[in-house]
Amino acid sequence: MLSIENLTVRFATQDGEVAAVSDVSLKVAKGECLGIVGESGSGKSQTFMAALGLLATNGQASGRVDFSGTDLIGASEDVLNTIRGNKISMIFQDPMTSLTPHMKVGRQLAEVLRQHRGLSGEDARTQAIAMLKRVHIPEPERRLEMYPHELSGGLRQRVMIAMALMCGPELIIADEPTTALDVTVQAQILDLLRDVKESMRTGIVLITHDLGVIAGLADRVAVMYAGRLVETGTVREIFADPQHPYTRGLLACTPRLDDPTYGALPTIPGQPPNLQRLAAGCSFAPRCPFVLDACLLERPPLRPFAPGRAKACIRDDLERAS
Ligand SMILES: Nc1ncnc2c1ncn2[C@@H]1O[C@H](COP(=O)(O)OP(=O)(O)O)[C@@H](O)[C@H]1O
Ligand SMILES: [Mg+2]
Repeated sequence: MLSIENLTVRFATQDGEVAAVSDVSLKVAKGECLGIVGESGSGKSQTFMAALGLLATNGQASGRVDFSGTDLIGASEDVLNTIRGNKISMIFQDPMTSLTPHMKVGRQLAEVLRQHRGLSGEDARTQAIAMLKRVHIPEPERRLEMYPHELSGGLRQRVMIAMALMCGPELIIADEPTTALDVTVQAQILDLLRDVKESMRTGIVLITHDLGVIAGLADRVAVMYAGRLVETGTVREIFADPQHPYTRGLLACTPRLDDPTYGALPTIPGQPPNLQRLAAGCSFAPRCPFVLDACLLERPPLRPFAPGRAKACIRDDLERAS
């Protein structure tokens, strides 16, 4: 359904060029959930902003992005608007950035229904109530009369998801959808997304800095570091047998969502590199416990090492080395 090939994103800044995304290739099939994981600043959001034609004006994308046969990188604003409104929906961390603060929830939902399905009046209201029920919002009639700030964070995120579902999208891009929520509510929102995926066969891209979030929802995982993919595989493989030292580091820092000490995260020592001055070798080398001299000389390409799995690391002996 969505195919990204060799996507590169550069930002022009006063201090030089920022290599935000470098040579990323990804695919999302219908009804599949792809998890994108990596520390803050690793290029997760900009990969999909570029794919949807939403880069800031100082950004430049190259590569190919194909959505069900339409090339999005070269597409006109009209084509992009149609696809973004009808086929691909986005959900962000902070619903307040997408909800209008001074407009009642009911009116906002009705507006989306009017634009996308030509519904108005009672029809729009009935549909809006049905959609709020669909995302398990209690007392939907009462919520329609409320302003976004009158809702809890969890309910606001449910309203966002309801809005995202209004157009019957084929793909939802959820960028840190649960990051601002406490653990219990986080789990409820992830349950809801799983339910949407299973009952409506909606593809989902789940972007998160927290590997714990994707465990119950993603089918496949792509791990990003410093603008590049460093490992890809099924969610089972990534959790049971991580093969890139960075994935291992992330996993060691990931408590389970149901762990009472959740939130007290250890972190991988060191800092991600400056994207304006990337060194020649592997970007993770300065933080890598398995680093070899060769890692500093040449950037390891992402290479397949087992069916459906790939990693950007020259070492195949992590078991023996650790
Ligand atoms: N408009 C911009 N100008 C310059 N740099 C930017 C701009 N937007 C994003 N970046 C940089 O691109 C990199 C990747 O950002 P992003 O994709 O948002 O990371 P993530 O979502 O993984 O946290 C970051 O270093 C960020 O500072
Ligand atoms: Mg982001």
